[in-house]
Amino acid sequence: MESQTEQPLQGKEFWEEHYGQAERIWSGKVNPTLAEILEPLPAGRALDLGCGEGGDAFWLASRGWQVTGVDISQTAIERARETARHLSADSGSVQFIAADLETWSDERRFDLVTLSFFHAPFEFQRNAILGKALGRLAPGGRMVVLSHGSHPVSQAAAHHDHDHDHGGQQGPNLVTVDSELRSLGVPADGFQILQATTVQRMITGPDGHPATIEDVVVVLRAADRP
Ligand SMILES: C[S@@+](CC[C@H](N)C(=O)[O-])C[C@H]1O[C@@H](n2cnc3c(N)ncnc32)[C@H](O)[C@@H]1O
Repeated sequence: MESQTEQPLQGKEFWEEHYGQAERIWSGKVNPTLAEILEPLPAGRALDLGCGEGGDAFWLASRGWQVTGVDISQTAIERARETARHLSADSGSVQFIAADLETWSDERRFDLVTLSFFHAPFEFQRNAILGKALGRLAPGGRMVVLSHGSHPVSQAAAHHDHDHDHGGQQGPNLVTVDSELRSLGVPADGFQILQATTVQRMITGPDGHPATIEDVVVVLRAADRP
């Protein structure tokens, strides 16, 4: 009998399997770097691409933003919707959409577009999605892309990013500031790069050992007139 080699999961199937591993995958807490960047901004319309279970979206909504979160995983989106139902009325306005960003289209323009840890341990149309995301900005709008620049460096042999475990067993594909700017393909006209840096943060591994992890942060601003 012919034996069939099992192909690793990709795309929607990968993410459904990933979210199916536990009742909640992410901490639900906003990343401190993201919070620091967004705190001074006046609230408006925000779009969180690859929003997962909605941690960043709820933080934005609690600060008065009208937020749309989009994710390919129906499971993640259902969890986000369930959280929204349990939140009080003053938590702002959030809407969650289950869709593949490779094909999702929406005519609305946003004052803020965020992508937090939009990684996967397999090839996908990341650059195309980032490029399309630029086009969703309203005049004067900002885009904030936060990505993994390193794996956690821990004293322990087995370590794990508790706050954001991105990408499952194989680990995420890492980026640099330069590769991220190339991926975004920022046009020379019409956008200003406000920040393109690497920041370090401390995380705690499951064994309690401290670990350092690097995040790549890119912040862009669309021109006031298109
Ligand atoms: C590493 S997780 C990050 C989740 C969340 N932003 C966070 O910081 O915790 C990446 C997310 O992107 C979503 N994703 C990956 N490819 C996608 C696609 N093509 N369209 C929509 N969402 C996608 C996954 O389902 C997953 O929730």
